[in-house]
Amino acid sequence: MAEQNGIIQLKDIDVTFTSEGKTIEAVKDISIDVQKGDVFGIIGYSGAGKSTLVRVINLLQRPTSGEVIVNNQNMLSLSAKELRTARKNIGMIFQHFNLMNSLTVYGNIDFPLRDSKLSKADRKKKVEHLLDLVGLSDRANNYPSQLSGGQKQRVGIARALANDPEILISDEATSALDPKTTTEILDLLDRLNKQLGITVVIITHEMDAIKQICNRVAVMEQGKLIEEGDLLTIFGKPQKKLTKDFVDTSTQIKSALDEIKSSGIVNDLTGSLIELKFTGDVTNEPIVVGLYKRFNVSASILFSNMERLSGTTIGIMLLALSGDDDKVKEAIQYLNDLKINVKEIDLSESEGE
Ligand SMILES: Nc1ncnc2c1ncn2[C@@H]1O[C@H](COP(=O)(O)OP(=O)(O)OP(=O)(O)O)[C@@H](O)[C@H]1O
Ligand SMILES: [Mg+2]
Repeated sequence: MAEQNGIIQLKDIDVTFTSEGKTIEAVKDISIDVQKGDVFGIIGYSGAGKSTLVRVINLLQRPTSGEVIVNNQNMLSLSAKELRTARKNIGMIFQHFNLMNSLTVYGNIDFPLRDSKLSKADRKKKVEHLLDLVGLSDRANNYPSQLSGGQKQRVGIARALANDPEILISDEATSALDPKTTTEILDLLDRLNKQLGITVVIITHEMDAIKQICNRVAVMEQGKLIEEGDLLTIFGKPQKKLTKDFVDTSTQIKSALDEIKSSGIVNDLTGSLIELKFTGDVTNEPIVVGLYKRFNVSASILFSNMERLSGTTIGIMLLALSGDDDKVKEAIQYLNDLKINVKEIDLSESEGE
């Protein structure tokens, strides 16, 4: 079978800015291929080039070089009129909502339909349907200033969907929201993806958001794409230091290690401290019991976290092992044989790999 073309194909994209005689390479030679139905996450710190990259998708930002293919259309070859049409297929939502304050909720959602060919009645139906879809039917006549942040973002989402786009881009759409509201908005995006089949690209600097809804992840650092893969692989086997940092922050192992380092526990440790990572049906207790039974090695769980990602359990544990040196070595080998990712942690070691 021929290779499936993604709904969004960015090929060898460079974006260079020049300002005040200085050149900034905001995006360096990035290629990504987003498949229809993906919830594709792009994660990176501030200034990594995330917004610049996604603005290339609808040519709000023209690349300095590279190819942009959306829905099998070469975006760079379109006339201004064709581009306007193509852009209707790509909805966008933003951190600061970008609503029009002088228009009601209804007016904001209706606005993108101003030059549509719908009859007056159909247009009204459409807006009412969108209001219902995002759960704001009772707020139609409110102004943005009368809404909470979460409600404003729902208006932003409804407006972005007005022209029935196949693609929805979310640029830090939850960054101004509290954790509970963030989860609600991400749930809504997830529902839109599943129910309407919309392909979603989300930009974030938080792994938690990625974890909640993405199936694929790209990590950006200083204009470059440094790692890309499906959620489970990125989460279970991050290759790059930055990716690992994002994952470790999200599993809270980072804060657990810091706590262990600053507490007295370290001094009381006689054996090895190991970090275990596993995917699938391994659970804490049998591991600990198994180590004792088989090797007479006692293991104390200093930290453990498990979560379900795309239906698979990913677990992480910090264990303090004590027992005969030889036996501890055998125990670690045994864990490796169970396909558990084992890493010995040297607490005196400074950060960095
Ligand atoms: N129009 C522009 N002119 C000049 N430089 C720009 C322009 N837009 C972005 N940049 C620069 O490009 C780099 C990448 O910016 P970009 O906004 O894409 O990063 P980001 O990853 O979205 O960051 P954040 O998380 O803060 O939104 C930055 O150094 C930024 O200053
Ligand atoms: Mg940005």
